Amino acid sequence: MIKILVSGASGRMGQETVKALQASTHLKFVGGTLRHDDLAKAITQHNPDVVVDFTVASQGQRHAEIIIEHNVHPVMGTTGFSEKTVKILQELCEKKQLGAIIAPNFSIAAVLMMQYASLTSKYFPDAEIIEAHHPKKEESPSGTAIKTAELIAANRKEKPAAAPHHAIIPHARGATHHDVPIHAIRLPGLIAEQSVIFGGDGETLCITHRTFDRVCFMPGVMLACEKVMMLKKLVYGLENIL
Ligand SMILES: NC(=O)c1ccc[n+]([C@@H]2O[C@H](COP(=O)([O-])OP(=O)(O)OC[C@H]3O[C@@H](n4cnc5c(N)ncnc54)[C@H](OP(=O)(O)O)[C@@H]3O)[C@@H](O)[C@H]2O)c1
Repeated sequence: MIKILVSGASGRMGQETVKALQASTHLKFVGGTLRHDDLAKAITQHNPDVVVDFTVASQGQRHAEIIIEHNVHPVMGTTGFSEKTVKILQELCEKKQLGAIIAPNFSIAAVLMMQYASLTSKYFPDAEIIEAHHPKKEESPSGTAIKTAELIAANRKEKPAAAPHHAIIPHARGATHHDVPIHAIRLPGLIAEQSVIFGGDGETLCITHRTFDRVCFMPGVMLACEKVMMLKKLVYGLENIL
């Protein structure tokens, strides 16, 4: 049995994770932490093999560092990691030869959406991302949007065409990451959605992923808890362990 501690156990993702762990035959839920709990103390007390973290963007790096310091495998579902932070954590894990996973999206369909976007960017370099989430999401844009923009940039063969830009209202064209404009919507009623729209001469292609229930993230979370035990480095993105 792999012993799992859930950091952020009272949250929407944390509660779903605890439920999934309690139904698992080979992963064991050994404890959870809330906002005011001391993560380091909880790790010492419960002695887990893996800590799954679903908390807040502002605490992501600190939590990952605490988990790594204790030689425990982090599975970071918390979003908002910058490229720079991922690199810092990668170096920490490399020094310790410790397996870790940061996944901006644990949904297999969302990972496929990102992969299709990456493939499409080879043929259509002009792309924009529209992501939409519930209003309690702390950061914007989403980690999925950032990761998608990075995949598009890494795979496209040509630079996107420069559109004329005179903003009547600042940021009317969204934020830009690696030359990919990203537009973030926050509205009640939503969980998480993303569309990647590609434009070519006389046509567009739209790849959309919609989340209706947080249960869709659980197969990815459970898989990450198993696979992280076999890794000797930090892996960024669920697609790398599927
Ligand atoms: N990777 C993915 O597939 C995926 C999918 C969905 C969401 N997410 C991300 O997962 C994270 C959690 O989302 P959620 O919807 O579950 O949020 P949520 O419902 O607001 O839950 C947040 C959890 O973090 C705790 N928390 C809040 N502030 C904290 C702090 N300063 N230090 C330590 N713990 C703190 C909360 O504890 P209290 O209850 O005590 O306040 C709660 O347990 C977010 O970053 C979100 O973007 C990732």
